[in-house]
Amino acid sequence: MDRLLEFLNNKGVVLLTINPFSILSETIPAIAIQTFVIVMGLLVVIGTLVDIIHKKNVKYFFENAKKAKKSAKKVLTTGEKTSVIIKTIASDIATTSELGAGKRRIAHLLGMYGTILFWISSVIMIFCYVSPSSITPVAWPIIWHVGAIMTVLGGSWFWFFLRVDVYSEAQPWYRIIQADLFVLALITTSLFGLIWSFLQSLNLNDRWDDKVFLILFIISNLVLFGGVYWSKFAHMFYKPGAAIQKNLAEADGSRDNLPPPADAPEKYGMGIKREAPKHY
Ligand code: HEM
Repeated sequence: MDRLLEFLNNKGVVLLTINPFSILSETIPAIAIQTFVIVMGLLVVIGTLVDIIHKKNVKYFFENAKKAKKSAKKVLTTGEKTSVIIKTIASDIATTSELGAGKRRIAHLLGMYGTILFWISSVIMIFCYVSPSSITPVAWPIIWHVGAIMTVLGGSWFWFFLRVDVYSEAQPWYRIIQADLFVLALITTSLFGLIWSFLQSLNLNDRWDDKVFLILFIISNLVLFGGVYWSKFAHMFYKPGAAIQKNLAEADGSRDNLPPPADAPEKYGMGIKREAPKHY
């Protein structure tokens, strides 16, 4: 680890090794920073519950699963169910296989793992190493900064080039609608966090720059976590549930009451050879 630190110092990327929350706790009490994180967690729980109650999506999901079970061709043993669930976690969830091969999936994986790294390292640094006197293991700030960079890259790639409005519907990239709330809040949170951390590490003392970006970082977090009900945030809970149900329904033969695939060659005409399907 010392070698890694020395290498990073030599390369002038010392910023990556600084726990920004520990510097922040010299001016804002650690308990206030920790309370902020807890409030953000509560906002996610409340937003998701209100979403579930209002849209009745989870109720529909379980009713549908119960209905499908009646047409199951076999009863799965606990071992078989466990195996389906493990395979779903390893493929559908961990690699978002639903997005197929290509740019869309790579951009999503960058953003998803970037966000997971950013959130985990934030919680560890804020709850375990926030006091100015504690020494943060160098891995955590590195994970935090790398996670933020991955989120900005994956999220921006998706938002500027791959989202359906731009990619398939020829809308200009600057058109913003409510559906963009999640991805934009995700990108801005990581971007403002990175800029704030960089400016703070410069020791600007009474200058205003880092404080402005700290405020922007706080506001974008409030939008991200406070906007769960209005944004696509909760898909990270719904999608895994739906993938597990789909694969269990495949394994027990009920197929969610959908007809089996046609026993005929796939004929889509010559058009499919000319252009990838993207006009949804
Ligand atoms: C920390 C976890 C996750 C993050 C940060 C994340 C982030 C995102 C973002 C930013 C989008 C674009 C939203 C938009 O349409 O504007 C998205 C879409 C999507 N996500 Fe996730 N996601 C996460 C977890 C998951 C999981 C676990 C799955 C599947 C099991 C999943 C499947 C999808 C799918 C299928 C889309 C639609 C993509 C498209 O329209 O091209 N996501 N996600």
